[in-house]
Amino acid sequence: MNSHITIDPAILYLGTPVVLVSTTNEDGTANLAPISSAFWMGHTATLGFGLASHSLANLRRTRELVINLPSHDQVDAVDRLALTTGAEHVNAWKSAAGYRHHKDKFGLARLSPVASDVVTAPRAAQCPVALEACVEAIHETDHALVVAQVVRVHVHPDVKASGHANRIDPDAWRPLIMSFQRFYGLGEELLPSRLASIDEEHYR
Ligand SMILES: Cc1cc2nc3c(=O)[nH]c(=O)nc-3n(C[C@H](O)[C@H](O)[C@H](O)COP(=O)(O)O)c2cc1C
Repeated sequence: MNSHITIDPAILYLGTPVVLVSTTNEDGTANLAPISSAFWMGHTATLGFGLASHSLANLRRTRELVINLPSHDQVDAVDRLALTTGAEHVNAWKSAAGYRHHKDKFGLARLSPVASDVVTAPRAAQCPVALEACVEAIHETDHALVVAQVVRVHVHPDVKASGHANRIDPDAWRPLIMSFQRFYGLGEELLPSRLASIDEEHYR
């Protein structure tokens, strides 16, 4: 049966990587927020935020962030951050959904902040990939789409492809995926894509 039916889902969370966005608060401390509306084109990252997000307020002001990518092994750290906001005022929608204010989200997640090279926001030491980035544009409608340029890439050595100075090994890198508010990992490789006939350096 290949025919479609029409449905009207309240959300379209069809499966994207979870990132933990570090930003700098007004008092110089760090905020950390799980976000799964994230994709990359070249070195441009696009992230989707609700308008009440404290991270968005920080991004409007500082124009800097770190996009930390937890592996599937860090699902518990990510889940500890669920239903929290760095905003002191929790709006009615979030409050009804069970959100509460939490100031020290690095501490809550049990992740260690380490100083970044270029931006003021710290990166999370335990995340295998951490991307320092500068905001280029914020498009606000019902949500905010933040477009940022990645300016520094940090990886744990065990996700780097051996024999290549600047490549991530997709067999070693195990992203955490969120699909319809549930966590998944990746399965095994299905097939080497024909796109891989293009050398990665060709994209530089
Ligand atoms: C796994 C996961 C993924 C999430 N993805 C998003 C997202 O893509 N965009 C968003 O605005 N909120 C997302 N949220 C909810 C935010 O984490 C939430 O709005 C939070 O209050 C943001 O923190 P902040 O207010 O300190 O910035 C997600 C939450 C979890 C746990």
